[in-house]
Amino acid sequence: MKYPDISFEPFFAFVHRPRIMYSPGLRAEVGYEMGQLGGTKAVIFTDQGIVKAGVADMVADEVKKSDLKLVGIFDSIVQDARIDIINEGTKFYKKNGADCMIVIGGGSVMDTAKAVNIMVGQGHDDFKPLAEQAALYEDAKRLPPHIAFPTTAGTGSETTGVTIFDYLEMGAKTGIASRALRPIRGLIDPDNTRSLPRMVAACTGLDQLTHALEAITALPFNQRPAPEQPRLRPAYQGANPISHVWASRAVEMIATDLVRVFDNPADDSARGQVLLAATYAGIGFGNSGVHLAHGMSYPVSGMVRNYVPKGYPPGHPIVPHGMAVCLNAPAVFRFTAPANPPMHLYAAKLMGRDVSKARPEEAGEILAGAIIDLMRKVEMPNGLAAVGFGPQDVDKMVEGTLPQHRVTKLSPRPAGPEDLRQLFLDSMKLW
Ligand SMILES: [Fe+2]
Repeated sequence: MKYPDISFEPFFAFVHRPRIMYSPGLRAEVGYEMGQLGGTKAVIFTDQGIVKAGVADMVADEVKKSDLKLVGIFDSIVQDARIDIINEGTKFYKKNGADCMIVIGGGSVMDTAKAVNIMVGQGHDDFKPLAEQAALYEDAKRLPPHIAFPTTAGTGSETTGVTIFDYLEMGAKTGIASRALRPIRGLIDPDNTRSLPRMVAACTGLDQLTHALEAITALPFNQRPAPEQPRLRPAYQGANPISHVWASRAVEMIATDLVRVFDNPADDSARGQVLLAATYAGIGFGNSGVHLAHGMSYPVSGMVRNYVPKGYPPGHPIVPHGMAVCLNAPAVFRFTAPANPPMHLYAAKLMGRDVSKARPEEAGEILAGAIIDLMRKVEMPNGLAAVGFGPQDVDKMVEGTLPQHRVTKLSPRPAGPEDLRQLFLDSMKLW
């Protein structure tokens, strides 16, 4: 198959990334790394699950052996970043006189900590007005040193300048993006993911797969209007030759290793590969952006009623982020494929499909089929209906998707309300 055209003339792509380090046992270097960044008094941001799994202590012990002073552990972060918790974390950081943060957790922990970082860095006490004026963040200056240890393989949040939070009044998750939010160091330590439950591993892995597929297929950056000033250049640029490299490799790795992790969570090698792939995908989509599957996922997660995935704590209904994005993904890629069939076929090929004889009009179906096969192998529910939604929910889902311009505008094929309606309906049952 001919390699798709990614020359993207005229060339103006850029890559933003933190310094990423990868090794088992890397936590031993956290004190040194923070010292290099000028941090002296650290707060650890994490959640109860990470504390119970002993991972927070493993990192805290290493901090104590170093010159860095640990002034507090904030472990009240809950699933999905919330404004009240962001404010509480801000208070905790200030009260303890911290000047840097160590963040240990999955996407919700990292998103909460990024929001706290901008609050303490810019001297705010209440996140709500900032959340309402997300544009302000484009002006954010340098923030306090922030080292992130991801503990789930999926968000890639350690590489991105984006925080996603629950905006309860909107009944949806939403996010803000700024280059200043990006952690300065991402320490990828596979030892930290050994306790990850299988279903969490599956959902976060499919999140990263979707990040990478959306990064590859997003509206190319040179088809977007140039910013009026360089200052306004968005962190999410659209598909570009640099994000393409990272995202492509991430798709290959996840397609090869996610099922191995799901079948045997003790497989250190596969787990390490998936964790690394999450970071690759993060560098890819953190520069290109994502599009419709993510835009449509926010109301799906926000509108959950009773669904609790296998292996998640009972009594807390949730459609995990990675599940919400992949439930929409097959319909989305069938819809976007006509905008760029070679790139969709290329993505399917990365997932192991033979596309040598494929016709352009088959691109969407082939990629959707590859995603569905993987979803079935890691026991995902069969569509939005299987997590408790029906056609009567679609209007509200469309309403919750329309404000997500940050990502939906990167769709390679524009999607209006009627298109979104059909995409949600097509996502009710996948096989
Ligand atoms: Fe995601």
